[in-house]
Amino acid sequence: MQDLTVLALESSCDDTAAAVVRGRPGAARVLSSIVLGQNDLHADFGGVVPEIAARAHAERLDICVKQALTQADLPLSAMDAVAVTAGPGLIGGVLSGVMCAKGICAGAGLPLIGVNHLAGHALTPRLTDGVAFPYLMLLVSGGHCQFLLVRGHDDFSRLGGTIDDAPGEAFDKTARLLGLPQPGGPSVQAEATKGDPKRFRFPRPLLDRPGCDLSFSGLKTALLRARDALIADQGGLTEQDRADLCAGFQAAVVDVLAEKTRRALALYMAETPAEPVIAVAGGVAANTAIRAALETLSSGTGTRFLAPPLALCTDNAAMIAYAGLERFAAGQSDDMALSARPRWPL
Ligand code: KG4
Ligand code: ZN
Repeated sequence: MQDLTVLALESSCDDTAAAVVRGRPGAARVLSSIVLGQNDLHADFGGVVPEIAARAHAERLDICVKQALTQADLPLSAMDAVAVTAGPGLIGGVLSGVMCAKGICAGAGLPLIGVNHLAGHALTPRLTDGVAFPYLMLLVSGGHCQFLLVRGHDDFSRLGGTIDDAPGEAFDKTARLLGLPQPGGPSVQAEATKGDPKRFRFPRPLLDRPGCDLSFSGLKTALLRARDALIADQGGLTEQDRADLCAGFQAAVVDVLAEKTRRALALYMAETPAEPVIAVAGGVAANTAIRAALETLSSGTGTRFLAPPLALCTDNAAMIAYAGLERFAAGQSDDMALSARPRWPL
């Protein structure tokens, strides 16, 4: 098979991204990847404001595409297809991306490929390491938390996932409750290294139930109660209180993720993969305590643990280009009727 060159656009949340990827399924490389974040635009609101995000995407997508082509040192005419995130995500942003991609395809006469954002995350280990199917993927971010058994580029089994909040959301909320900077993940992790994880014993939700589903909202409430009790007793929080609360919170997240991953791993191993792999993706995969727990778990079962570079773990367009490349190589593409889908389970 000939190498394919795919341009992709991603705008499903608060990052405007474009990238160019070249190669074949299981053997592709990133020629360029541009991500224009919007943290500064949403900082005053304590979360992503969909209207502001959509407007920023619409204003920046063409600049982003131009930068991606320049970085790849290729003209648009060198592309074989244009891939775009068609969902799930904030509808205004997804629409901006789909319309921009349609415009490029209509103007340049290129095929259009709609990509599921979650498939983009789930296929990243194929882009970075050429991993063979089937593999186990733990997707943990600010918006998602699920275990996927990846059997093919469009063949995913969801083994379980969160029934309420995503872990990244819980980290961000914890940081907000304790007056730590956003995004919460890195600041809570930094505090946790200075704290005692045993001082506060937070709940491990759903561990008593079979299966791979997770829950994080109870944990958040428990943290709020512990914080309020300290404030009522002492009139405020000390540095040590903050560190101990973070350490206790993170320990609970790690315990829950590790145990549920152990169960997902057992289901995956029942498929007797020749070269078992467990991969992670999403911003929370940056957490060193979570990584360490998963590494211990995988080495105990002779499974390779794979964490893509952080820039490809968090939202980016290279993963969308690669997932589009897999679809296109399999003879799949879309037409101008491609619609933006706010909800789109794998
Ligand atoms: O995948 P991502 O960049 O974006 C979306 O969720 O769309 O993930 C961002 C999330 C945030 O909630 C952030 O707090 C969390 O990932 N995060 C972390 C760490 N670094 C980022 N959570 C825990 N520990 C970290 N070191
Ligand atoms: Zn994502």
